[in-house]
Amino acid sequence: MLKKSYISGVASYLPSKVITNDDLAKFVDTSDEWIFQRTGIKQRHISEGESCADLAYKSAKMAIDNSGIDINDIDGIVVATATTDVRFPAVATYVAGRLGIDCYAYDISAACAGFIFGLNVADNAIKLGQSKNVVVVGVDLFSKLVDWKDRNTCVLFGDGSGAVVLSSCEEEDDYGIFSTHIYSSGKNADLLKSYEIGKIGLHMNGKAVYKFAVKSMGDSIIDALKYNNMDKKQVDWVVPHQANLRIIESVANYIDFDMDKVIVSLQNHANTSAATIPLAMDSAIRDNKFKSGDILALTAMGSGFSWGSCLLKWK
Ligand SMILES: CC(C)(COP(=O)(O)OP(=O)(O)OC[C@H]1O[C@@H](n2cnc3c(N)ncnc32)[C@H](O)[C@@H]1OP(=O)(O)O)[C@@H](O)C(=O)NCCC(=O)NCCS
Repeated sequence: MLKKSYISGVASYLPSKVITNDDLAKFVDTSDEWIFQRTGIKQRHISEGESCADLAYKSAKMAIDNSGIDINDIDGIVVATATTDVRFPAVATYVAGRLGIDCYAYDISAACAGFIFGLNVADNAIKLGQSKNVVVVGVDLFSKLVDWKDRNTCVLFGDGSGAVVLSSCEEEDDYGIFSTHIYSSGKNADLLKSYEIGKIGLHMNGKAVYKFAVKSMGDSIIDALKYNNMDKKQVDWVVPHQANLRIIESVANYIDFDMDKVIVSLQNHANTSAATIPLAMDSAIRDNKFKSGDILALTAMGSGFSWGSCLLKWK
């Protein structure tokens, strides 16, 4: 019997310390007006002593609780992150240890697109029958990576984590993931990258990233629709990577999609890299937006460049 996967649980976690745009303007030459007009961001959450593994564990635990799946039935944990606490072992192994379960656990590195890449490997493991329940976490603490004196980049990012549990269902069930699509373009690797390990700060060609983000996220949704012989009119919600409201609006414009059906949560948490999609999904669930049978198109783009999409029917 062929299997597919569906999202059985979602959760997210933001550290309690909030830095507003006005707070930032006290120590870097910027303003609430500049940041909000250019990005739509109002504030970001910053970890005070909590590690990448702490944040990942918190959202993973809540996602498992929300899924109703017995924790001992979790077969695997995949953590997407660019901001691990130590080079090894994987953050995912700490999450498994804190959860008190023995299962395969590894990290993947695809920056802001990491959560979609995580969905891709977890969905494939379930389709192949290798796993029944896989936790996919997106977590990043850019606060420890950015140069807080560089106004070009520090205003854009925040810390956070989000997780889903992907569970196995039957091919004929009328819900679940239709497909995931992932892509990379290594010739653009230097346009958005951290400084060498040990140095604080990141290099970003903002305008090039902006242009590529709009086309790549838009195209990845179009590819997913074509692959599934579906039309954009069938899509109820687009859940895009939350980097910049103007990018999100441009993606909606590029695919000719109504902004009222696009999930936006970045005003509250800024760009949390791999965590933005589950954070946005969790905020939409709290707002009672997703109904059973809704079609969701998730998409993200980030450093690499790497990007991708996931098309699914909500259970
Ligand atoms: C970064 C970004 C917001 C800049 O917006 P923009 O419209 O391209 O910026 P502009 O070119 O109009 O403005 C740049 C000017 O603002 C200044 N500036 C940059 N950051 C600033 C800040 N935080 N506050 C005030 N001024 C700032 C620059 O120094 C520059 O000044 P100059 O013209 O005197 O040289 C935009 O390019 C962007 O969002 N890119 C994508 C970034 C991203 O999402 N990265 C992560 C992807 S996963």
